[in-house]
Amino acid sequence: MQFVLNSPLDMHLHLRDGEMLKNIAKFSAKEFAGSLIMPNLVPPVTNINSLLSYKKRILEAVGDEKFTPYMSLFFKSNYTADFLENAKSHITAIKLYPNGVTTNSEGGVEQIDIKKLSPIFEAMSELDIPLCVHGETNGFVMDREKEFCAVYKQLAVAFPKLTIIMEHITTRESAEILKRYENLYATITLHHLLITLDDVAGGLLNPHLFCKPIAKRHEDKEALLELALNADKKVMFGSDSAPHPVSKKECCGCAAGIFSAPIALSVLAELFDKHNKLTNLQTFVSNNARDIYKLIPIEKKIILEKKEWKVPENFYGVVPMFAGQSLKWRVKS
Ligand code: DOR
Ligand code: ZN
Repeated sequence: MQFVLNSPLDMHLHLRDGEMLKNIAKFSAKEFAGSLIMPNLVPPVTNINSLLSYKKRILEAVGDEKFTPYMSLFFKSNYTADFLENAKSHITAIKLYPNGVTTNSEGGVEQIDIKKLSPIFEAMSELDIPLCVHGETNGFVMDREKEFCAVYKQLAVAFPKLTIIMEHITTRESAEILKRYENLYATITLHHLLITLDDVAGGLLNPHLFCKPIAKRHEDKEALLELALNADKKVMFGSDSAPHPVSKKECCGCAAGIFSAPIALSVLAELFDKHNKLTNLQTFVSNNARDIYKLIPIEKKIILEKKEWKVPENFYGVVPMFAGQSLKWRVKS
């Protein structure tokens, strides 16, 4: 059994830099037509020079593979309308991180003061630059995303022409507010469609499933599945594949991030097939992103076939999701 995807897109991807970039970029470039590249390098990508040189390094790492890195800037509260106007043609989005909520988010926004930041959001609305948001407060870990919903609502109402992407949603509340405000959209990861907190910490601790936002309850996962499997127009695939070397995962003070790039499409096919929703995968993994971001991706046909394969234990010292396990579908090379 085979299945063709036209230009699949991963609208939330961490490619890192240096050796890691060189080693892991191909896993996304082989299977996707393009990805939205996250800017949380050290230091973060906050100006056009560093963005363009990072894009160049990505394209070098990708080699001959047909793949578009859609670039994002790391939101800074001192961006001006002029800066944004100049940036517009080089970027696909701006990513806002509350300061310190996740890996390399230091230098993010200290306080999301809508009034103070409104010149930036107004300029982004005018220029039609989408705002991607890591929506977590620094409250109790299971409630961080729920608490952040108040900010999403304020933003959605105050800037009705701003396209706001709620990144990697994990809760029922997020799934609900998404439907209520026209200008709210969301990415959903693969791992949040599959795991709950039980898989991370219910038995022996599994550092390779530790990520931010942390996986939540069964009913949260069900709400996300409902949106993704039905390819709801408000959601699109964003893997949040976030590689860390094994020494940073299997240690005290484990880094947040799940490396899913090498298995993302295979496991999505398995999941959609299991629920008899394979016909919706194209929309979830490509068409919705085209509509939300107004993108025309390069043409790239990816053939998925129902054929078992075993996921390697590690790739260049990074342990992938499903390491050592058998998967039912694979991408035909
Ligand atoms: O688990 C995560 N890892 N969540 C994020 O928001 C960032 C990412 C990373 O960069 O490692
Ligand atoms: Zn991320």
